[in-house]
Amino acid sequence: MRAKLLKPLFTSLILYLIAGIFKAIIIIAKANALHFPQLIHIGEKSLTLFFTLGTVILLRWVIADAPFSMLRRYTVAPLLKSIITFLLYFGAVLVLLNRLFGINLTPLLTTSAVLTGVLALSLQETLKNFFTGLWINTERIVAKGDWVKIADKEGEILEVTWNTTRLLTRKNDCVYIPNRILMEGHLENYTYPSPLHAAEVDIGASYFDPPTKVKNVLIDLAKDLPNVMIEPKPEVWITNYSDFSINYRLRAWVNDFRLVPYVKTEINSRIWYVFRRNNIEIPFPARVNYARQEKKHSETEIIMNSLKDIEFLSPINYDELRNIVFYSNFETFGVGEIIVKQGETGDTFYLIHSGSVDVLYKDSAGNEKPLATLKQGEFFGEMSLLAGEPRRATVIANEDTSCIVVNSKGFQNIFIKNPTLAESLSELLAKRSDELEKIKNLAVSEREKLEAEISLKKNIMNKIKKFFKVG
Ligand code: CMP
Repeated sequence: MRAKLLKPLFTSLILYLIAGIFKAIIIIAKANALHFPQLIHIGEKSLTLFFTLGTVILLRWVIADAPFSMLRRYTVAPLLKSIITFLLYFGAVLVLLNRLFGINLTPLLTTSAVLTGVLALSLQETLKNFFTGLWINTERIVAKGDWVKIADKEGEILEVTWNTTRLLTRKNDCVYIPNRILMEGHLENYTYPSPLHAAEVDIGASYFDPPTKVKNVLIDLAKDLPNVMIEPKPEVWITNYSDFSINYRLRAWVNDFRLVPYVKTEINSRIWYVFRRNNIEIPFPARVNYARQEKKHSETEIIMNSLKDIEFLSPINYDELRNIVFYSNFETFGVGEIIVKQGETGDTFYLIHSGSVDVLYKDSAGNEKPLATLKQGEFFGEMSLLAGEPRRATVIANEDTSCIVVNSKGFQNIFIKNPTLAESLSELLAKRSDELEKIKNLAVSEREKLEAEISLKKNIMNKIKKFFKVG
């Protein structure tokens, strides 16, 4: 990379060297009164040629390529580079024509007003494109990699040439937009000066759901989403009270415009699950009430049957089981949703009715380690429920997962009345705790190993520095 950057510098130095050799030969020839006027004449022309070429290459390198180039400030200005290169070589051709062949084009260029007028008129559009291209590059209006919307076309800038700006749309189509459109039309840049962009999702909730509850639920939902910024915080606006719904707008901030449709999709999909779990209704004009009552009835049956199948609950009687069912309900989680979070307090027990979940442990360095994948019929959340401690792991839905969620009140007195329950649970609890401890110790020993490596490196560095008397 560095060698490539320095190549023009070496080239110009070689050209200067050749020019220098010509100069030296001419001086020696003149000093020794050698009478080869023809050869001296050719030598002088060659000297001019090599010197001019060397100077052009050096100037171009200094202005456009060198590490300290002033153009670096602008996104790169490939366009400016081409213009500078053109002007430098054009100037060099004028100089060489004049010096080598005695042809002077300058008066022709400066006096031909008619020619200039005709050219300007016929090239009006092209010149507009050209000057807008210059403006885009120098003012850093748009640059390669920016996400923009120009003349209703949205995409990522591939290139700004002297004539057109090229976009690659989300559908992978390349759109060529004449540069002048950027000046005449409407332009939105989603990347510069700030890549922050608000992804907005509109959603209606029923008149029965209190706005504060809906707003909190939406904000909590957005906070847990990948690719959504923690700062600025997500916010919810109430946009209006319409015929059959109160309408909300969730604004979540994203740092890369490319991700906006994915984040919106994730929000829209999670709204369905979160609203369901919180009994918030997404209303629509037609409603059939009896269907819901029927469902409620069958839900109780399903929960009852599922709880009966849990081995450690087998000793409890029918009434006790009914009491648990009374404090239970169904909750559905979308893929990727966090069901319980390590470190948070919790008093709910989850039995997987359908789908599956991943159990993850986050060590003190923030690395997540998988502990287990639990499937239909398996349960989690019992550790906090029984020990009253914060959640010891994070549980995430591996696919769309429906859980029977039992509140701690459902288990009240049951453990006291049935001491064998705790016994049969303790085996599983011990196994899970054991796995957790193993992973924790592994994380600690990994960290210790890393710390030992760092301190060893430091030691060696200090010794070397001391030896060479550095710092
Ligand atoms: P709790 O601590 O309430 O919340 C996180 C849950 O993850 C925990 O209860 C257990 O139910 C579950 N869990 C913890 N460790 C394991 C493990 N090793 N295997 C399966 N599940 C676990």
